[in-house]
This record gives sequence, C-alpha cells and structure tokens, in this order.
Amino acid sequence: MAEPWFDRLVRSQGWLDPVGGFVQASLKSTFAALGPPGGSVRDLLHGSKGLGHPLHPAITDLPLGAWAAGAALDYAAHFDPRLGTQAGDVALAVGLLVGVAAALTGLTDSQDTFGQELRVNMLHGLTMTLALLLMAASLGLRWWSSFAWHPLALGLSTAGLAVAMAGMYAGGHLTFGLGTMVNRSAFLSGPTSFTSLGRSSDFPEGVLCPVDAGGMRVVVARVQGQLCALSAVCSHAGGPLAEGRLEGSWVTCPWHGSQFDLKDGRVLRGPATFPQPPLVVRERDGIVEGRLAHPVP
Ligand code: FES
Repeated sequence: MAEPWFDRLVRSQGWLDPVGGFVQASLKSTFAALGPPGGSVRDLLHGSKGLGHPLHPAITDLPLGAWAAGAALDYAAHFDPRLGTQAGDVALAVGLLVGVAAALTGLTDSQDTFGQELRVNMLHGLTMTLALLLMAASLGLRWWSSFAWHPLALGLSTAGLAVAMAGMYAGGHLTFGLGTMVNRSAFLSGPTSFTSLGRSSDFPEGVLCPVDAGGMRVVVARVQGQLCALSAVCSHAGGPLAEGRLEGSWVTCPWHGSQFDLKDGRVLRGPATFPQPPLVVRERDGIVEGRLAHPVP
C-alpha cells in the first residue's frame, strides 16, 4: 500500500534536515546562553510550567482567527467604501502579534524532534514564517503608505492567510499524524487493584527498577526507604524512564531530559508537559504490590 501523499512528499525533502539541525542547534545554544532562566523560559514556552499542557496549540487559533476575521473585514471594506479599513488592520496586527508568540512556542517544541517528525516540523515552521512575513508586509503597506496601496496590502494578507492554512495542515499532521507533544500516557492501561511488582529485596535504595505490572511498564525506586512507582513510558515522547537518571526523588528521562517527581509523577522540567501516571505502592511480608493511583485519561 502506498504511503500517504503528504508523508511521501515530506520524506523526499532531504534539504529540510540541515535546516532542522541548524534551527535546533541555534535554539539550544540560545537557551543555554540565557543560563538558569533559559530553562524556565523554555519550560514556559513548552507549557511544562504553569499550563500543564502544550502551549503552542493553545494559542495558534488566535492568529488564524484574527487573520480570517481581518480578511472578512478587509473585503467588506473594499467592496463597501462606507466601511472603514481600520478594523481589518487591527485584526491583522493582533494576529501578527500572537503569531510571533505562537512561532516561539512552536520553535521550542521542535527542538526535540527528529527524522520525519523534524521535517514536517520544519515545513510547518517555514510555511508559517512565510505567512507571518506576508502579513507583516501587508501591515507595513497599510500603515506607512497611502490608501492607493490598499489593494496590494489586501492581496498580501489574503496570500498570507492561504499560506497559513497550508502551514496549519502540516501542523495538524504533526500532532494528529505523528503525535508530536501528544501525551503518551493517554492510551495507557494498568492495574487498578494491587498487583505484584516483586519482592522487597528486588528494590534496593536509589536504583531505578523496570517492572511489568499486569502488562504496564512501570519504573520503581526506593527513595529514602519509601517505594515510589510511575509509568515507565515518558509522557513526552515515550522515552524509557527506567534507563534515566535518579537524583533524590527526581527521575530524568534519557531521551530529552524531562524530569518527573517519582513520588507523584508531576513534571519538574520539560519538554514533557503532562505528568507521569503514578502508582500507589505497598509492601507486605516482603512482597511489593502496586496499582494506579488514579484513572489515566
Ligand atoms: S521522551 Fe522526551 S523527555 Fe522523555
């Protein structure tokens, strides 16, 4: 069976790889240059801090909505001169402003993608950048030239809207087709009643231990004598937490460095935005048992 046309098209665009590599390296060095605040800014842009949900999809509707409303107002004013053009200009400016914020969040999320996912990400980013440039050129013409240029400004913003919609297709494919920034725990199933995880002696202090709990991959560790357990599949992109690093009660994913608190699964550092499902663990007569602490989504 043939690969879907969009995936096939993107797979043939090898030039996107060096572009993606350059963008990722530039972003990483920029955040690193900011020092410790750089990590907080990055987490804020991911949505790891405060929102508990990816920030990028939460704001991308705003520029698209503003631009679509702006186009409708523009054309109404174009065909009925009694209506002013200012409303369309303001809608375009609002879309541009939020669009820059959306670009920053999207770029931040693109740091941890690779292969086909990175190519789609770059295609999405480049297309949306072109849309932003067309909108900026349109706004410049509106504000710094005479009304005689308004038809050209209208054409530029219409083209910008069309390009943005094509870019949104790539963005939608990234999320719904490839699962970028989608919660990997969304389809998890695990034990809802206490299930054996092993013997007490299987879990020495300060060691991440991979365990199968009724078909669910779990990572167990004893922290200051207390047993803690989480789903072992990182909510960000499915990394193996049991192969990560343990410091105190914090576990760091080996793939992109997300950090979770083993005691409750909360995100301490992105790019993950969703917490790790935690398990309630009990120890009886040398046997360790666990169950999901609460239903997973
Ligand atoms: S898979 Fe990306 S941080 Fe874990």
